[in-house]
Amino acid sequence: MQLFIDSAEISEIKKAAETSLCDGVTTNPTLAAKAGRDYNDILKEICSIIKGPVSAETVSPDADGMVKEGIAFSKIAKNIVVKVPMTVEGMKACQQLTKKGIRVNVTLVFSANQALLAAKSGAFLVSPFVGRLDDIGKVGMDVVRDIKQVYDNYKLTTQILVASVRNPIHILEAAKIGADIATVPYSVFEQLFKHSLTDAGIKKFLEDWEKVPKKK
Ligand code: G3P
Repeated sequence: MQLFIDSAEISEIKKAAETSLCDGVTTNPTLAAKAGRDYNDILKEICSIIKGPVSAETVSPDADGMVKEGIAFSKIAKNIVVKVPMTVEGMKACQQLTKKGIRVNVTLVFSANQALLAAKSGAFLVSPFVGRLDDIGKVGMDVVRDIKQVYDNYKLTTQILVASVRNPIHILEAAKIGADIATVPYSVFEQLFKHSLTDAGIKKFLEDWEKVPKKK
């Protein structure tokens, strides 16, 4: 399973890239607002660090506007993927951008039916938001499981990108289902490396190493 970083913070993206375990980046208007810089500048810088897909989100309400924004984003770098929302206009934009050879990530997906429409519209990626479903008392991962089954049934090639990830359990569940990608906040990415027994084990080995006789 590929791991993307869900962030517009260059320092986080650089740290993730240094591990060579970050396969791509997703951004959205909320993350861009947090970063507090021009969105195009942020995207350009991210694309210079990460060679994998970098998602840039459109904000126009209509398909024409989304297509215009998408074409402009696609000129920033080859690895840009254009994010459009799961709406009727979003699907029209997805179809048009895909026809132009621009890859699309359909975002704000909360059901397998929406994911089916995204795949039929030629989406490169589909983003089910698991955390936001959990927040309203639904099981977000059930939607991912349904999408996987539907896509497998019809050999649909749209990749499932599990988004709105809040913890390492989400990532494990996504991997067990066979999702293609999980996009994770940097804090969750860091958590993946950690285990208290690993820390305790290192501490003990270092203490014992001190007791090993060394030649002068
Ligand atoms: O990029 C979209 C997504 O991952 C949003 O996450 O935590 O705002 O629900 P969150």
